[in-house]
This record gives sequence, structure tokens and C-alpha cells, in this order.
Amino acid sequence: MSIRLAPSILSADLAHLADQVALVLSGGADLIHVDVMDGHFVPNLTFGAPVVRQLRKATDVPLDCHLMVEHPEDYIAPFADAGASILTIHPEATPHLARHLAEIRKRGMKAGVAINPATPLAAVMEVIGELDLLLVMSVSPGFGGQPFWEPAVDKVRRSRTLLDAKKSAALLEVDGGVARDTIGRLAAAGADTFVAGHAVFGTSDAAAEVRELRRLAEAGAAGRKTG
Ligand code: DX5
Ligand code: ZN
Repeated sequence: MSIRLAPSILSADLAHLADQVALVLSGGADLIHVDVMDGHFVPNLTFGAPVVRQLRKATDVPLDCHLMVEHPEDYIAPFADAGASILTIHPEATPHLARHLAEIRKRGMKAGVAINPATPLAAVMEVIGELDLLLVMSVSPGFGGQPFWEPAVDKVRRSRTLLDAKKSAALLEVDGGVARDTIGRLAAAGADTFVAGHAVFGTSDAAAEVRELRRLAEAGAAGRKTG
């Protein structure tokens, strides 16, 4: 299982965004996580497709776009056109998950589903075969720097079991409160892709922190009990 680190620019110094992205890439970041919030699905406002378009000009790294918005279908074409690589939507925001996942793939992006802490894993059961990424939220979305929701570890473990049982190659990503004290346990539970905002950009050396988080995740994954 290869480990992927996805620093979230939500906690970056946004006045120097390209520099901040270059910094975490120099530390070996695999993806850049872009948190898109609409002030309705979550009580905060952040970035839209124009920011993704500018980032796409600045780097070739995959852009992992997490839509925390109502009516996610309205954003599929704009994000595809802007150069998003992965588009992740929430089942809590739409009754037409399967239709929108198909549209995301049709537009050439990888399709992800993110589930809030209170949303049962069963919400994705019927669409596992249509997923490139399953995102388990380990905070209620809306803000960076929130405390880790501990039951996420067991939810990740059950997600890994489900993906393996369905022979899915989807990435298993975790988002919220990922830091030195949580990443190893999450990797041991079967997560392979780690979003980290505050833990990376809240330090004095973001590149070194990406390296350290990878080291801890790899150690956790190596200790994973399989079978
Ligand atoms: C939360 C966002 C996260 C956020 C994580 O609503 O989806 O991606 O940036 O931030 P940290 O790592 O600081 O908890
Ligand atoms: Zn996110």
C-alpha cells in the first residue's frame, strides 16, 4: 500500500499560495487538497474553480478537490474545465450520488465520496464500484484545525474491510485532525491517503512535516494486521 500525503491549502498562507504549494511538494507531497466550501453545506466560504485554474497553471501535481457544497452537480463541469484531478462530493448534499459520480468520471476526473462523522458507511455501499476515492471525515467539515474525531479510526478500519471485500482499488483518504499523533493509527487501520492542513502549514517547516508524517504513516502501515 503506498502512502499519499495531501496537504490542505485551507491552512496555507494564501497570500503566497504558489510558494506554499511548492514548499510542500519539495517535502514530497503527492496531492494538493483543495477545500471548497459554499457557506451553506458548511458554515464557511473558501475557494472555487478559479483558484483551481490558477493552481493548475502553477503545478502539475494532482489537485484533490473536496466539494463541501450544496448542489455539487453545478460544480462538476467548472472544476473539470479548471483542471481538477479528483472531485469528491458528499452524499449528504445530494440524492443523486450515482448520477454525479458518473458525470465526474465522464468529465475525465477521478470520482470521490466523502462521508461526515455522523453518516454511516452504508451511505456509499451501493456505489463502491463507481468510486476512485472514499474519504472518511475525521472532523465535521467546515474548518481547519479542529480536534480529531476518534471513532474515525474504527470507521477507517471498516472502510478498508469493505473496499477489500468489494475488490475496490479506491484510495481510502482521511481528512480532519490528521497529525503526528493520529496518522500512524489511521494507516494501521488501512487508510492510504492523508489530508493534513494545520499539522503541515501550522509548523515552521511544512516540507519537513510532510516528510515526518509520511514516515509515521509508513510505520503505521507496516504494522497493519492484514487477513
Ligand atoms: C475540513 C476540511 C479539511 C481541513 C483539514 O472541513 O475538509 O480538509 O483542511 O484541516 P486540519 O488538517 O487542520 O484538520
Ligand atoms: Zn477536505
